[in-house]
Amino acid sequence: MTWLITGGAGYIGAHVARAMAEAGERVLALDDLSAGVPSRLPEGIPLVQGSSLDGELLKRVLAEHAVTGVVHLAARKQVGESVAQPARYYQENVGGLATLLDAVAGAGVERFLFSSSAAVYGNPDAELITEDTPCAPMSPYGETKLAGEWLVRAAGRAHGIRTVCLRYFNVAGAAAPELADTGVFNVVPMVFDRLTRGEAPRIFGDDYPTPDGTCVRDYIHVADLAEAHLAAARRLSSADAAGDLTVNIGRGEGVSVRELVTLIGEVTGDTRPVRVEPRRPGDAPRAVASAALAAGELGWTARRGVREMVESAWRGWQLHHA
Ligand SMILES: NC(=O)c1ccc[n+]([C@@H]2O[C@H](COP(=O)([O-])OP(=O)(O)OC[C@H]3O[C@@H](n4cnc5c(N)ncnc54)[C@H](O)[C@@H]3O)[C@@H](O)[C@H]2O)c1
Repeated sequence: MTWLITGGAGYIGAHVARAMAEAGERVLALDDLSAGVPSRLPEGIPLVQGSSLDGELLKRVLAEHAVTGVVHLAARKQVGESVAQPARYYQENVGGLATLLDAVAGAGVERFLFSSSAAVYGNPDAELITEDTPCAPMSPYGETKLAGEWLVRAAGRAHGIRTVCLRYFNVAGAAAPELADTGVFNVVPMVFDRLTRGEAPRIFGDDYPTPDGTCVRDYIHVADLAEAHLAAARRLSSADAAGDLTVNIGRGEGVSVRELVTLIGEVTGDTRPVRVEPRRPGDAPRAVASAALAAGELGWTARRGVREMVESAWRGWQLHHA
């Protein structure tokens, strides 16, 4: 088996590439380096610099490396940017996926794993979100992930490709400091950024219908997420797996933003009081996964807790912002 990992120099992609290589899979990465960092990839994992929008390049790479499975993480991922530039998000996330699937089908690749997101659910009224919870994304980003899932499943049926769509919840942490998320788009780096500037961490809304009034999320350690990819890749390779699977990747436990910020204060030793600001449009009060299907279908359960996520993310932040 040879796996092509698109977005392999990205935060999650590099964790996936490492975990799969360490487990004995042959992997290579493709990344346009718009957000990727080549040094995240260990020696021995080839990196092709190029775009998922470049069909000719994709066909060449699939053939030259005799690729037998694809893990597709390459995408734009900023919700706010997607609201401002919807056509770009559809072009890159859905157009890039269509180009890739065309090349995959043409090359006879039979296994495809797609990075989806809890953003497909929008703002569901559910204590635990199951894969049957209706999808109603609230941003063009979430729409591109939902449309991507439809496309993946349709291409799977049309071309005999086995597919898995993984709906990640809130990803945090780092398996090693050099693999850390260098972007400041998610809550943990956003709080680190404020503290590093000597400013109070911000909480957007403390009047939600949740126990402490702040939004509740399901945080998943990126190393656990990488292991989920490995489990999904193994499932795609097993003879008796069903054709397609769409599955939540979370811990099944809610943590409020206030609890998270308190924990960050403990880990960093910076316990300055938070600043409460108005709600941001589009933030769901609660988004917590049911992790049951992943346990049943992939034999995978998250092992790492939120403190480990914050501690490892903080080590990575200090490395990059020393
Ligand atoms: N980080 C999260 O919390 C989260 C949650 C849910 C889903 N996801 C999804 O996981 C995937 C990876 O996210 P990440 O957090 O690692 O982001 P990231 O920006 O670190 O990684 C994405 C990588 O893809 C590359 N890339 C982007 N467009 C490309 C293109 N057209 N062709 C080739 N390479 C391209 C970038 O250079 C980058 O290295 C994305 O699909 C994202 O939507 C992330």
